[in-house]
Amino acid sequence: MLELKEITKIIGDKIILRNFSLALAPGESVAVIGPNGAGKSTFFKLAAGLMQPTSGEILLNGEQIKKKTHLLKKRIGYLGHESFLYSALTPLENLRFYGKLYKVKNIEEKGMELLKAVGLHYFKDIPIRSFSRGMIQRLAIARVLLTEPDFLLLDEPHTGLDQEAVSLLNLLIKERQEKGIAILLISHDFEQVIQVCERVLILNKGRVVEDKSIDHQRGLMPFKNWYEAAVSGK
Ligand SMILES: Nc1ncnc2c1ncn2[C@@H]1O[C@H](COP(=O)(O)OP(=O)(O)OP(=O)(O)O)[C@@H](O)[C@H]1O
Ligand SMILES: [Mg+2]
Repeated sequence: MLELKEITKIIGDKIILRNFSLALAPGESVAVIGPNGAGKSTFFKLAAGLMQPTSGEILLNGEQIKKKTHLLKKRIGYLGHESFLYSALTPLENLRFYGKLYKVKNIEEKGMELLKAVGLHYFKDIPIRSFSRGMIQRLAIARVLLTEPDFLLLDEPHTGLDQEAVSLLNLLIKERQEKGIAILLISHDFEQVIQVCERVLILNKGRVVEDKSIDHQRGLMPFKNWYEAAVSGK
C-alpha cells in the first residue's frame, strides 16, 4: 500500500499541492489528469521520494519514505519527464548500470528480455546518443521495469511513442497489473487513460477536484465533457 496523507507542498511562496491524500492498493490503476501546472508531476516526485513534502506524510507499506531509503525506493518505479539515461552508453550498458545500482539479479537476461519487449534489441550495442526521442522513451520504460517494482509511477509515459510502442507499453502495463502491481499514470491522452486505468483523479491548482471510477463501456466522449466541466469548476 502506498499512502499519501494530507500532503502539502510549498515552493517559495507558491502552494503546489494542497492537502492531498491518496491510498494506492496492490493491483489498483489510477490515472492522474489535469491541466499544465496542476501539480501532477510534483505529486509523483513526492511519492517516489525524490522530493520531500512541506507537511503530511508518505508511507510505503506502513514505512515512511525518506530520501535515503534505497530499498523502499526500489519498490517504486518512477518514470519522469527526464529519462535518467547516459548518452555515451548503449541500451544494454544503461540497463546494466541501473541493475547494479539496485542489485538486480540476472541483469543480462532481464535486460535482454526487456529490450526485446520494448523493441530495442537490434540496437542494444549502439550508444544511445544517436537515438530518436521514441527510442529513448522505450529504453526509459525498460529501465523502470528492470527492478520489478510493486508500484509503477508513470509520468506521461506514452509521450513520443509511435502506435506500435504505445501498444507495447500498454501490454507491458497490463501484464504487470495482472501480477498485482499498482499503477499511477499521468497522461494528457484520455484514450490511454481509459485503456490502462480503472479510476481517475483530476488535479487542478494543486487540489483533487474529482475522484471517479472509469466507465469503460461509455468510451471517450462523456469522459471529455466531464473533464472539461471538472477543471472549469462547473
Ligand atoms: N522546483 C520548482 N520551483 C518552483 N516552482 C515549481 C517547481 N517545480 C514545480 N513548480 C511549479 O509547480 C506547479 C506544478 O508543477 P508540476 O510540474 O507538478 O505540474 P504538472 O501538473 O505536472 O504539469 P504538466 O501537465 O505541464 O506536466 C507549476 O506551477 C510549476 O511552475
Ligand atoms: Mg508534469
